[in-house]
Amino acid sequence: MKKLFLSIALVVLGASMAYSAEIPVPKFKCGPWVVGVTETEMTIVWTSTERCMGWVEVAPDDGSSFYAVERPRYYEDFLGRHLVTKVHHVRLTGLKAGTTYRYRVYQQGVDDSGHSPVSSGKIIASSPYDLYKIKTLDTSKSETTFAVINDIHGRDSIMTALTKDFKSRKDLDFVVFNGDMASFMGSIEDVEKDFLLRASNSFAPHKPLVYVRGNHETRGPGFSEFMNLFPSKTGTPSYLFRHGPAAFLVLDCGEDKPDSDMEYGGTAAYDAYRESMAQWLAETIESEEYKSAPVKIVLMHIPFEKEAGWWGNNELKRLLLPLLNKADVDLMMSGHTHRYSFREKGTSGGNEFPILVNGNNDRVDVKVTTSRIELKVIDATGKQLHQHTIDVK
Ligand SMILES: [Fe+2]
Repeated sequence: MKKLFLSIALVVLGASMAYSAEIPVPKFKCGPWVVGVTETEMTIVWTSTERCMGWVEVAPDDGSSFYAVERPRYYEDFLGRHLVTKVHHVRLTGLKAGTTYRYRVYQQGVDDSGHSPVSSGKIIASSPYDLYKIKTLDTSKSETTFAVINDIHGRDSIMTALTKDFKSRKDLDFVVFNGDMASFMGSIEDVEKDFLLRASNSFAPHKPLVYVRGNHETRGPGFSEFMNLFPSKTGTPSYLFRHGPAAFLVLDCGEDKPDSDMEYGGTAAYDAYRESMAQWLAETIESEEYKSAPVKIVLMHIPFEKEAGWWGNNELKRLLLPLLNKADVDLMMSGHTHRYSFREKGTSGGNEFPILVNGNNDRVDVKVTTSRIELKVIDATGKQLHQHTIDVK
């Protein structure tokens, strides 16, 4: 009997030792936003004020209470452990195409400084009543609508004006940030302040985000946080995805001056980087995933130019344009110049496809069907400035 009491006492002591009131309670800092969305998967990303363990619980959009049943729980696992971190990336898998899901984000403080991690026991979660909702992509859809903004350069009030109805727009399948959303990649906090906080407080938890890296996102001590904040399946900012009738080539651009320029202090290696990107592009445009798409759209921050320009532009043209010219591209969308232009085939340095360059104060609404692409350039007041229709080849 004595032994039994001793065992019970040890279990109780062990349980009380498993939690610590000393561990700071982590608060949500920014997010969530959702990247890498496919027909069956997506990555929910957010940041917390303290290192902690995060997870996501998912429910179908069937009108049931989130508390109706225990919901499946997804963690961020690495080499057999749930990660304790300040930047959380939870990959949801096993989803269905073209299906809306509701989700909640959770986090819990853990002190993992010793041999045995100790949980705070206190869990923080997003609202169970005002749930986040997001829809997976669907390659069987006959059409898609998406919206593009670029060159915000930290002016998040402009971004807010351009995106104010995104959360409620049922037709909007995803949102593209086409580069230079920030002028400088300082700390993660700088990026949050520049645009992520306001995006996360409106549409970002609810619409898939496609982020095309601009040349300004290559600058600053926090440049490598880009892939931490916006992970992709390739591990680089260049990747291919399919949705509706279209294949989308998301291309990185690198910097605009020669690697040896004094502005880079000897740290630039974009020439070799662009060469490897061109190699990846050459292989990708030969893939069945790309070739089988009825419509093909390129998203790249820096457009090709008619005249010889800065080194980076010239290298992009030398390395990428010949590949894209033989890849049946229907449209390229760019920014960078801060001025709208629509460049017909053959007018921008030998381009075999039209290029829409969006200005820094407007957005582009794009509707794609199997036979045409409709482009509407809209300003921050909602006024339509330009319209183009492209017949698909
Ligand atoms: Fe730019």
